[in-house]
Amino acid sequence: MPGELYYSGTPVTSAIATEPPPEPASLTLYIASISAPIVQSRCVSCHVSGGASGITRLVFVRSSVDNYMTLNYNKMMDFVRNTPNGASLILTKPQGIGHGGGIQLLSGSTELDNLSKFVEALQSW
Ligand code: HEC
Repeated sequence: MPGELYYSGTPVTSAIATEPPPEPASLTLYIASISAPIVQSRCVSCHVSGGASGITRLVFVRSSVDNYMTLNYNKMMDFVRNTPNGASLILTKPQGIGHGGGIQLLSGSTELDNLSKFVEALQSW
């Protein structure tokens, strides 16, 4: 049964040795607080192939696409790290500052706060 505790008899040391490496903090944040409430709810309607901002440097995929979380996480990481001024643009544009898509995230909102933590995590990893 999932979640049920049982004693397997496997020594703890060997269980640790075979575990995959921990995922980066930025990916944990992405899955928990960026993907559904921000990218899929506030960005993908325009930032998708064929959308209003489908020809910008920030193009996501919808949740109907296989591996959408990984694809969109990698897209964000690439934009933040490799686009000149990317880390700043990703935070200012959604607040409506020089953004063709207007205001999508309010200054002071939990979403914007989470996005800013995510960008920091991407830069420090
Ligand atoms: C209503 C449509 C719309 C929505 C929703 C939208 N955008 Fe945009 N976005 C645009 C358009 C149009 C542009 C191109 C013009 C410009 O640079 O502002 C753009 C440009 C951008 C750029 C600059 C891309 C580049 O190549 O320089 C960033 C960064 C950005 N948006 C972030 C976001 C984020 C993050 C979200 C979700 C929180 C979002 N946008 C939601 C329409 C939208």
